[in-house]
Amino acid sequence: MNEFNYKNGQLYAEDCPVVDIIAEVGTPVYIYSQKTLERHYQVFDQAFQGIDHLICFSVKSNSNLAVLRLFAQLGGGADIVSGGELFRCLKAGMEPRRIVFSGVGKTDREISFALDAGIMMFNVESEMELRLINRIASEKGKKASIAIRVNPDIDPKTHPYISTGLKKNKFGVDMDQAVALYQVAIEMPSIEVLGVDCHIGSQLIDISPFRETVLKLKEIVRKLGTLGISFQWVDLGGGLGITYKDEKPPTPDEYANAIKEAAAGMSQSFIFEPGRVMSASAGILVTRVLYVKHGTEKTFIIVDAGMNDLIRPSLYGAYQEIKSVKEMAKGVVADVVGPICESGDFFSKNREVPDAKQGDLLCVMNAGAYGFTMSSNYNSRPRPPEVFVNGDHFEVVRPRETYEDLMRGEKIPSWLE
Ligand code: LLP
Repeated sequence: MNEFNYKNGQLYAEDCPVVDIIAEVGTPVYIYSQKTLERHYQVFDQAFQGIDHLICFSVKSNSNLAVLRLFAQLGGGADIVSGGELFRCLKAGMEPRRIVFSGVGKTDREISFALDAGIMMFNVESEMELRLINRIASEKGKKASIAIRVNPDIDPKTHPYISTGLKKNKFGVDMDQAVALYQVAIEMPSIEVLGVDCHIGSQLIDISPFRETVLKLKEIVRKLGTLGISFQWVDLGGGLGITYKDEKPPTPDEYANAIKEAAAGMSQSFIFEPGRVMSASAGILVTRVLYVKHGTEKTFIIVDAGMNDLIRPSLYGAYQEIKSVKEMAKGVVADVVGPICESGDFFSKNREVPDAKQGDLLCVMNAGAYGFTMSSNYNSRPRPPEVFVNGDHFEVVRPRETYEDLMRGEKIPSWLE
């Protein structure tokens, strides 16, 4: 469900005509719907009524301050993977005690920053990382709270680039090594063991890998219990998929019920780190048609957004629906491509898209997750602005980058001046 609908043949973002936004901000532009974000949070939260839980929004999916502030106000926390994400969360007013820090390559600077900020816990991914956190915490005279991220060796049945819970993936500690690592952790003077963590992959459509994961975590919690090691939190990560095309992912209720059922008998509280399911359908990327080129083999609709603005189709071969801002009855089989000098620069290939003409506005749907956050300045293209909509109000929450922004901090070395 989202708040991007046609009224009288025009696409609206909530109660704002998209054309009005474009008239003011131009293209390409990311537009986010506050109502959609709110509803996703509430639906997810309600699905887990009855078990003690915390929703830590996965910041990597959409890290705009407006989005983070909204989730903070709704009572949520954050799943972060870098010092930069932590900095954003703090700026957005997120409660540090609701922030969990995952990632295989935390630097000492990031660990130190997170300890000073007073985050809830580190999701530790290796023994060396655990030792470093212990050392930095002891130097500061602090205790670092941690969970160990285990790798349950479960196939999430998703794209290989976004599978994380198999032994061949770099993430987490193998199940058969985790118990020993917990035994090391509890002896460490500056470590407090707060939980166990897991994240097996993203865009999961099948519910069974989630169920299996909970059962494996339940088993490790039981085993640790027999060794006298107990804690409050079980972090199940994110990963719930969405419908980009015709996928039928579990609803939040189905997901929650499967987890509640598998977790029966556990006394822990649960953390969830949803990203995509919260933010994807809350955002669109609007772009203008520059040219239509009729080749002998193919038709290309060339738009002013490129793979630098939204890389998912190029990187994963991901399907993203393309709609027209002005409702169009007619479709055409064409490739929708950007201006970047790579053949991989496309939003769709060989499929029916709106029969758009020069100057028309198209939008790439489900672009609120892993859209702007994965954008770059490739080809020296300023990144698009981000607009936040609430009812009939909208505000630019990140301006379009300028050419000056592209070069901020760069200089010509003195000997070439
Ligand atoms: N927690 C951890 C530790 C993660 O690594 C991720 C995503 C999440 C939570 C959130 O997963 P979600 O609920 O969004 O599935 N760029 C890719 C997705 C990469 C996901 C990486 N980790 C894409 O555009 O499909």
